Amino acid sequence: MIEARDLGRVFGATRALDDISFRMEKGRVLCLLGHNGAGKSTLVSILATVLPPTNGTARIAGFDVVRQARDVRRHIGLTGQFAAVDESLTGRANLLLVARLLGAGKKEAAARAEQLLDMFALTEAADRTARTYSGGMRRRLDLASSFVGRPQVLFLDEPTTGLDPVSRNALWDLVRTMVGAGTTVLLTTQYLEEAEQLADRVMVLARGRCVADGSVAQLKEQLGGSTVRATLADPGATAAALTALRTAGLDPSPGEPAGTVTAAVEGSIGLAAAVRAFDSAGVGITGISLSEPTLDDVYLALAEQRTGVPVPS
Ligand SMILES: Nc1ncnc2c1ncn2[C@@H]1O[C@H](COP(=O)(O)OP(=O)(O)O)[C@@H](O)[C@H]1O
Ligand SMILES: [Mg+2]
Repeated sequence: MIEARDLGRVFGATRALDDISFRMEKGRVLCLLGHNGAGKSTLVSILATVLPPTNGTARIAGFDVVRQARDVRRHIGLTGQFAAVDESLTGRANLLLVARLLGAGKKEAAARAEQLLDMFALTEAADRTARTYSGGMRRRLDLASSFVGRPQVLFLDEPTTGLDPVSRNALWDLVRTMVGAGTTVLLTTQYLEEAEQLADRVMVLARGRCVADGSVAQLKEQLGGSTVRATLADPGATAAALTALRTAGLDPSPGEPAGTVTAAVEGSIGLAAAVRAFDSAGVGITGISLSEPTLDDVYLALAEQRTGVPVPS
């Protein structure tokens, strides 16, 4: 559905995008993850025919983004970080306008607008001007507008930046609904949790280059295992707890706060081994948990690999 080959873009002396290649199957979610200036919007703009590439080629649904831009536009929807809604129009009028622009008749446009207002939880606010909408409502209206033409491919450029957690969760659910309907989604984000929530595949961009590409699970694997953390019933039993875990072949250390111990493990098997070790050593625990590395850790590890210095978060 999306195919990019050696795609690059230069702005003066800045290489915003440096020879990116990838293929994306239908109905999948690709997440472009990167900090400000990584090249995410540049890549989305090229794929959405808004910006010509300096080098390389890209196809959407088989159409070339430069030579067949009009065909590409019939298949895509685009939502930016800054909502493209008309503030002076009501929510319903915004959707009607887009539907009419896309060539729908009056009745058809009205039906589609109604359907989308319902789907995006805007029915109650349908007759208020968009100026009165909250940030989350505006973003939903923008998303609804990009969905009017039932696009096969949807580009979402930082769709939840600046949204509160509730609005963000609502938007994630909408994206899942769209994907469930067969839409292919390319989403950019600076939020690692967002990639974890939505992506089938993540490409990490840094300075216009792809520095990692894979599933969230694969990226996490690059960091090694998980961490088990146990809270001891008796904080004075720390030494005994450490000995018990060492006997089980783990390499534990005392944790913070006092009375907890941690150890790197290989997933849930390691968790079970730790529980057995405490049990057979007679060390009582009041809690034990397994935490997997987050995508944030992955990004930092990759950035450190590249530059050799820790990146401030
Ligand atoms: N129109 C432009 N003119 C000059 N430089 C640009 C332009 N658009 C983007 N850039 C530069 O290209 C790089 C990538 O930008 P961008 O794709 O917007 O990153 P992101 O969306 O990941 O924040 C940045 O260094 C940015 O300053
Ligand atoms: Mg951007």
